[in-house]
Amino acid sequence: MKPLGAVTRGTTNPNRLRRVDNWIAYRCGDLLAAAAVPLVIDLGFGATPVTAVELRARLAAAVRPDVAVVGLEIDPARVAAAQPAADPPLLVFRRGGFELAGLRPVVVRACNVLRQYAEDQVADAWRTMTATGAVLVEGTCDELGRVATWAYVEAGAPRTLTLSARLSDLDHPATFAERLPKALIHHNVPGEPVHDLLAALGRAWDAAATPFGPRQRWLATVRRLRDEGRTVHDGPSRWRRGELTVPWPGTAAGRPA
Ligand SMILES: C[S@@+](CC[C@H](N)C(=O)[O-])C[C@H]1O[C@@H](n2cnc3c(N)ncnc32)[C@H](O)[C@@H]1O
Repeated sequence: MKPLGAVTRGTTNPNRLRRVDNWIAYRCGDLLAAAAVPLVIDLGFGATPVTAVELRARLAAAVRPDVAVVGLEIDPARVAAAQPAADPPLLVFRRGGFELAGLRPVVVRACNVLRQYAEDQVADAWRTMTATGAVLVEGTCDELGRVATWAYVEAGAPRTLTLSARLSDLDHPATFAERLPKALIHHNVPGEPVHDLLAALGRAWDAAATPFGPRQRWLATVRRLRDEGRTVHDGPSRWRRGELTVPWPGTAAGRPA
């Protein structure tokens, strides 16, 4: 079968996906621990395989040593270039697309892939990547991974949105607007739930200025959102990392994405 998708820019960087990897270990750790075959796919690893190598190392350390990562790339030249980094059977690089090359992973990570597609291709890509029962973590970040957002998708449906930033660099939560997942980035306009969320987050941040530094300010911001009646997941041990997970904000049209 021809891999589903299109070759796009291959930009990547060491350590760029550390925030999302840490969250995958936290959120998907139990699923992976219970799996007979703890397989994770890194879809669209890019011009170098560095973030797939890091994903495997992080999950091996945090979840289980026998976790296997398959890096899939639609560009055969990038698959060939990745081979020196392979460590089969625990780390393998293959050609493949949204159909996942016939594999049946527990978790798929797809970062900085869908942002280069049209918005109306997102729902299909989500459905295809979760068709065999995998959960999908699909997100976007800046070049160095200091600001990141991702969707957690089950059976084609987005469940949560996570915003995560290095707090010492975060001027204002409005920064997240530029790095929203493709499904939301064009919906950051008045009347849309994601706009409402970012506006509430910004107001809470403005109101939470404290002399105790950005971590305390972020904690106060998240607590304020919660006290206003918004659902915020997890607790201070996640929030203090500069992370916030909320129910998927959907769109004003009522569609899930
Ligand atoms: C910007 S790079 C992202 C690299 C890495 N994931 C990161 O976040 O740093 C996007 C990569 O996704 C690949 N890609 C795009 N669509 C794909 C698809 N449907 N299946 C597999 N790879 C895909 C592109 O060829 C490109 O190498």
